[in-house]
Amino acid sequence: MQRALLSAGRLAWSRFARMSSTSAGRSLAEKVALVTASTEGIGLAIARRLAQDGAHVLVSSRKQANVDRAVAELQAENLSVSGLVCHVGKAEDRRRLMDVAVERYGGIDILVSNAAVNPFFGSMLDATEEVWDKILDINVKATALLANLVVPHMQKRGSGSIVIVASVAGYMPFPSLGPYNVSKTALLGLTRNLANELAPHNIRVNCLAPGLIRTKFSSPFWQDENTERRILETLRIKRIGVPSDCSGIVSFLCSADADYITGETVVVAGGAPARL
Ligand SMILES: NC(=O)c1ccc[n+]([C@@H]2O[C@H](COP(=O)([O-])OP(=O)(O)OC[C@H]3O[C@@H](n4cnc5c(N)ncnc54)[C@H](OP(=O)(O)O)[C@@H]3O)[C@@H](O)[C@H]2O)c1
Repeated sequence: MQRALLSAGRLAWSRFARMSSTSAGRSLAEKVALVTASTEGIGLAIARRLAQDGAHVLVSSRKQANVDRAVAELQAENLSVSGLVCHVGKAEDRRRLMDVAVERYGGIDILVSNAAVNPFFGSMLDATEEVWDKILDINVKATALLANLVVPHMQKRGSGSIVIVASVAGYMPFPSLGPYNVSKTALLGLTRNLANELAPHNIRVNCLAPGLIRTKFSSPFWQDENTERRILETLRIKRIGVPSDCSGIVSFLCSADADYITGETVVVAGGAPARL
């Protein structure tokens, strides 16, 4: 009897050890995920979490040095991550992202479209055509075009999950950021439109709308103490968010636990006002 218990214990332990050293048993086990703009900030936190939850993750951004640094950091944590340069505004880079994912991992299950720019502060009436083109190209058009490219790969797998990173600015405009705010509102619409079109293909499309998260991108809002204090007054949770506040929800949206959720936007903003 004692020997039987001992060997059952050994068996259970070896299964557990196997599961913890591979991705088996984790919510995104063996899924292949592309995360754009993932060499720092929110994208890096999302890439880390998807990999911790079992996915093979392809990180990317515009600069090779940033890609190398992010990949080294995540690989040092024993995560299944590799990387490549992808400027989401360049058609050839978007195509290469897909090709490399398929070459390295055999297919694609998850796309997190996270890249955005904001080259302009001021009255919307002063925004030039160049400003509008840049913001709409990177923040909106590139996301739609990445979806076009990834869908056939997800169809081959029989399912897929796309998460678009928008912003609470899409609901409640931030002052002096008109074109950026408009681009983020467009992403709320893109999410719903893609969700409608792709549901028959078993591909879900959801959206993350972060509030103020402490990153390089948002530094104009927290570097100065007075601006930070004014922003904290608008929040229910009295702290500025950190990138990891955004990552668990994305992993959940990509997992089988969210199989009946599509077309939704989840606000992660410490209770900041968010309504369209
Ligand atoms: N932080 C916030 O408070 C906040 C709030 C709401 C929404 N968001 C949204 O969250 C997303 C990420 O922002 P973040 O705050 O995490 O920014 P971040 O920390 O400044 O990181 C920006 C990342 O984007 C990459 N990148 C920039 N332009 C790119 C392009 N054209 N193609 C590919 N990669 C590009 C950068 O790497 P390279 O320089 O190497 O390209 C870097 O990895 C954005 O969509 C932003 O609008 C942020």
